[in-house]
Amino acid sequence: MRENTLAEILPSILSADFARLGEEISSVERAGIRMLHIDVMDGHFVPNLTLGPPVVKSVRRITKLTLDVHLMITDPDRYAPIFIEAGADMVSVHQEACTHLDRTLRMIQSEGARAGVVLNPATPVSTLDEVLELADYVLIMSVNPGFGGQAFLPHTLRKVRTLEEKRRRGKMNFSIEMDGGLGPDNVVEAVQAGCDWIVAGSSVFHSENAETAVKRLQQLVRQAVTASA
Ligand code: DX5
Ligand code: ZN
Repeated sequence: MRENTLAEILPSILSADFARLGEEISSVERAGIRMLHIDVMDGHFVPNLTLGPPVVKSVRRITKLTLDVHLMITDPDRYAPIFIEAGADMVSVHQEACTHLDRTLRMIQSEGARAGVVLNPATPVSTLDEVLELADYVLIMSVNPGFGGQAFLPHTLRKVRTLEEKRRRGKMNFSIEMDGGLGPDNVVEAVQAGCDWIVAGSSVFHSENAETAVKRLQQLVRQAVTASA
């Protein structure tokens, strides 16, 4: 599967300058990205607060990019439909926050969005065995969620390999996303492990030029695929 598809870079606006959000998004759009990652934190599931539906709505108005909304909140069932209404194309929920994960994923799909499930670094891939046929994508956290700019946790690459193997053996179609601490030093490893989508926050928006930073990551990803073909 990896040989024919190029991994996507998804800039995470968490590390962008919110006072210039429109310009920051235009800058990464110029690099040719197709998807944008939006982190929603509620101060309960994670010890930080970020943004709500009005911001997603404003972003929706200025871009045609696919909006990937990552819900780090305790009550995703209540809020997922509101984010979809605001313009989210994809919504991911944490396995650790969902009592009825199967129901939640089906609800997101029935509301018209692609449904993703997220695993914290300490949660095993096997906890998803019964929903892998249902989920549109699986997000493997490579940091403990809550903050941008944290150090990448290398053991999470093993989880991506495990997931990729399950997907191959089961002839399943979900995409694999990775989020946290990703940048030029580890993006190749992540793609070679099986990631289709790479989220990058501080390595893009805390660099001198966000467009150039994305282009560099895209180039590394292309090389990684060529090298493993
Ligand atoms: C962390 C968020 C990430 C964050 C990544 O809890 O889910 O999406 O924006 O930021 P970096 O790439 O700086 O680790
Ligand atoms: Zn995220």
